[in-house]
Amino acid sequence: MDKIKQSELKDHFKGLSRRDFVKYFLAGSALSISALNRLNASVYQSITSLNQKYIEDEAPDGVYWDALSKHFLFKDGLIMMNNGTVGPMPKPVFNTLIKHFKVQVTNPFDVYNFIPSKKEAVRAKLARFINASPDEIVITRNTTEGMNFVANGLDLKKGDEVLLSSMEHPGGIHPWKLKEKRYGIKIKNVPLGLPPKSVSEIVDAFEKAISPRTKVISISHTVYISGLIFPLKELSEMAHERGVLVLADSAHGIGMLDLNMKKLGMDFFATSPYKWLGAPTGVGVLYVRKEVQEKLWPTIASGGWDRYENARKFETLGQRADALTIALGEAVDFQNAVGRERIERRIKTLAGYLKKELEKISGVKLHTSRDPYISGGLTAFSIKGVEPRKVVNYVREKYNIVVRTIGNKKAGTYGIRVSTHIYVSLKHVNMLLEGIRHLVRRRS
Ligand SMILES: Cc1ncc(COP(=O)(O)O)c(C=O)c1O
Repeated sequence: MDKIKQSELKDHFKGLSRRDFVKYFLAGSALSISALNRLNASVYQSITSLNQKYIEDEAPDGVYWDALSKHFLFKDGLIMMNNGTVGPMPKPVFNTLIKHFKVQVTNPFDVYNFIPSKKEAVRAKLARFINASPDEIVITRNTTEGMNFVANGLDLKKGDEVLLSSMEHPGGIHPWKLKEKRYGIKIKNVPLGLPPKSVSEIVDAFEKAISPRTKVISISHTVYISGLIFPLKELSEMAHERGVLVLADSAHGIGMLDLNMKKLGMDFFATSPYKWLGAPTGVGVLYVRKEVQEKLWPTIASGGWDRYENARKFETLGQRADALTIALGEAVDFQNAVGRERIERRIKTLAGYLKKELEKISGVKLHTSRDPYISGGLTAFSIKGVEPRKVVNYVREKYNIVVRTIGNKKAGTYGIRVSTHIYVSLKHVNMLLEGIRHLVRRRS
């Protein structure tokens, strides 16, 4: 192993005793399970002492957030300001993942006898994390799968209508397109403002679009194009009064927002915990409200689909990579150690600062609302006379900041999208703003 790799790993495994560190290199194998446990314990100890010391520290930057960001392992100073597709795993999640994958190397018997027994504890943890019952939690592979489970599993007849917003992700559109083609249901698109001015503007638009044939409203909770946080509570109340079901695509929601299924009130909620929660790719969550479970058929069937009287009937998928699920539980533990409310506040504080400063730059149009009730950690905007791609490339080259282009020109939504997660600092946001100001000064 060359020197660079050793120093990188040293950084990864800070907190590991010298003996374990040496053992790791000598054996050329993964760390011992007890060493991984010790590593995780030291991470949580440091978070607990930070919580005690800086409990009042609500500033967007400072010792607390600096120290916390050390539990992420970005390479070469990468500044990750895009949590779309996938975000990073913090150290304890990675350690737990390795620990459980290692079992298949040393004792495959335990992969099917011991590890699955830990799955119910993860389901219970997830339920507490989003204020639901464990009987309402389906462990899926991703949001797309969750959206398909719902679209596929509901009995809809030819001519029944499903309302979508004009800014849905392909993973939220195509399950319905398939159903449209196969069963003759109708998809109706409801336009969204860029940004909408108020909660009532959004809810009223959907209310007007409801007809006697409307059965489902299927919308993004976290709109990937504009950064809108959909007012699910108000929408669900309106829809339920009219006997319409609500499915929320919250691909970005878990880990970004302090979620409460009971309060939000929708019937189905699909999310991908590897974007903002820090879970490994390949594990997702679908919430199915107890009262509507009877209406939903499982899409995948093996033993149990007709026996379970709860959400477990939707996940009889055969052998799964349970290590992913256990690591998902660790991701929940990590965020709980910091505090869900604190995380949402930090994310929104950074996004609020970014939006305030962007508005001062000539030619900038915010596609995301300034209102923290209908916005979160995704900020989208465009700049008159500056190509979004140019911004993305420039800040990557100059500062190693990752942001992305989003939307499309024809729809008028083309722009730049920035994620402000807990490991991003005010300094990083200022670097991004400096890059944007530079390009604005040079625009023709
Ligand atoms: C709003 C939205 N829905 C669905 C998806 C698809 O997510 P996944 O690939 O994790 O299923 C994404 C991906 O970023 C998204 O932003």
